[in-house]
Amino acid sequence: MNSTAAGASTPTAAGTVVPVITIDGPTASGKGTVAERVAVALGFHYLDSGALYRLVALRALQLGCSPDDAVALTALARGLQPHFGAGRIVLDGEDVSRAIRTEEVSRLASQVAVHAPLRAALLQLQRSFRQPPGLVADGRDMGTVVFPDALLKVYLTASVPARAERRHKQLMEKGFAASIDALLQDLRARDERDSMRAEAPLRPAQDALLLDSSGLGIGEVVDAVLHWFRQASRRSE
Ligand code: DC
Repeated sequence: MNSTAAGASTPTAAGTVVPVITIDGPTASGKGTVAERVAVALGFHYLDSGALYRLVALRALQLGCSPDDAVALTALARGLQPHFGAGRIVLDGEDVSRAIRTEEVSRLASQVAVHAPLRAALLQLQRSFRQPPGLVADGRDMGTVVFPDALLKVYLTASVPARAERRHKQLMEKGFAASIDALLQDLRARDERDSMRAEAPLRPAQDALLLDSSGLGIGEVVDAVLHWFRQASRRSE
């Protein structure tokens, strides 16, 4: 994809600003599934920003690079040229869609994400997904840092037990073994690391709409986001 240069709100050649919906939230809040479905419903592009941190983590693991080595990790992030399409993520000709979803890579992704230069190196790549007719982006800092001018910002939460339960189901469906207790522990550790880090910590943007999905089905959450988007679009006309 072509880059849209530094400004998050750079207008297209036709002079229009490409609308963005950001969906931020903690691990296993359901934001990925919701974001993808909202993107399909609107015919928008979709950015899974967590996948970029996971790709860096995967490469670091393969190369034996320490999670503390910010310089080497940033170089890895700069060289990243992933291809997203048809539900697959391809890196250097290899389909890594499954490899980036293991618990080991999940943990490491949260560790490498604390480094400011690495985050800066991924900024441009993330903004390059902002293409007509629109973008739905999910992550931790989509509304606060990457797309501060997004038309709609959603912050999706769910209780830790509800998220552990979902994550467990997801992993079982993908054929990975997992224990609920280990998942609970891991979720809490990742929540803490993602929220307490100095750089772009996980938190709702001031103008984000909060949604607790603990007792809701995916369809209900998707409908709520689509409803808010229609409202925001009308207001911006
Ligand atoms: O959304 P996810 O679980 O795939 O993200 C994996 C890790 O990447 C997460 O623990 C923190 C990091 N991340 C981030 O720091 N900023 C983002 N915008 C997305 C993910």
